[in-house]
Amino acid sequence: MGDIILISNYKYKKFILSYKSIYQTNLTYSLMNNAICKLFQIEYPIIQAGMIWCSGWELASAVSNAGGLGLIGAGSMYPEILREHIQKCKKATDKPFGVNVPLLYPNIEEHMKVIVEEGVKIVFTSAGNPKTWTGHLQEKGITVVHVVSNVKFALKSQEAGVNAVVAEGFEAGGHNGREETTTLVLIPQVKKAINIPLIAAGGIGSGQAMAACLALGADAVQVGSRFVATPESSAHQAFKDTVVKAQEGDTILTLKQLTPVRLIKNDFCNKVLAAEQTGASKEELTTLLGRARAKKGMFEGDLSEGELEIGQVSGAITAIKPAAEIVKELMDDCKQTIARLNAIGF
Ligand SMILES: Cc1cc2nc3c(=O)[nH]c(=O)nc-3n(C[C@H](O)[C@H](O)[C@H](O)COP(=O)(O)O)c2cc1C
Repeated sequence: MGDIILISNYKYKKFILSYKSIYQTNLTYSLMNNAICKLFQIEYPIIQAGMIWCSGWELASAVSNAGGLGLIGAGSMYPEILREHIQKCKKATDKPFGVNVPLLYPNIEEHMKVIVEEGVKIVFTSAGNPKTWTGHLQEKGITVVHVVSNVKFALKSQEAGVNAVVAEGFEAGGHNGREETTTLVLIPQVKKAINIPLIAAGGIGSGQAMAACLALGADAVQVGSRFVATPESSAHQAFKDTVVKAQEGDTILTLKQLTPVRLIKNDFCNKVLAAEQTGASKEELTTLLGRARAKKGMFEGDLSEGELEIGQVSGAITAIKPAAEIVKELMDDCKQTIARLNAIGF
């Protein structure tokens, strides 16, 4: 009897082993064939979002070295600072990386000039018309992705000829859509509307959320807030600690009259909310916002009067971790989630 149990255990183990190796082979094969991995020549379908005051060369190169795609956030950089970050990133990694350019900021022509001169191969544009720069950049051999928060702009981006679209839900940190469409609702609609690769963003801080986005039809995920709480992020330590301490309900979407932005509730944010409640005009809100609020908060660490941009997912971030560890955890947990769902066998 004992022998039989041994033999059957052995057979069972063999079955598990071969199942695992088939699963691994399939996974490697499917990652190799993933539209976004192919487009950017990266190992994992994970993009680290471009983030003002947070994503310089150190974070971008760490994520790229870990197998994802790191993006330098050009929005908070003067053109020559951007050049410096690109050059340092090239030295720190031989893997692909890109630059995020919010089109609403000044100096766009100079930023684009630096990007072309430095031979950057991937550009993510946001907050503007995708038609303006896509053709020019592609003529220079650059792959272009545009960030949108609704179906209408996803279609406009496709018409403009972009290589892929990031669709970003209401949960996201930073500037996001006025429609308040959540990632869960947005991704399937965008997927249905377009026929180019799709990257989901907004509220993704775990492998489970990543698996959910792949299930909704995304080819990859763009992760912002989770990467703020890393040693490699250039955010002020006080801001990183605030992100780790943040609880459910600590962020709110504000400044819809200007450019909507999700902020941690602090003295500055409360002043904005109070002004909005009493019907402040655009001009009054612009005056209240003043200059360099985001730098004051996220880079200089003024937790009371600074602008602290972060996503709802901050409530689930409990530790500062190296970027490579986050990439690994996202992949491991995503794989386990998919395997767990497969095992349910509906
Ligand atoms: C601190 C911060 C700064 C951001 N800055 C930018 C930016 O400069 N350009 C941009 O396109 N998006 C920006 N975003 C949005 C991110 O690129 C990304 O799409 C978003 O963070 C994804 O949602 P998540 O924060 O829930 O992961 C920013 C987000 C954060 C948290």
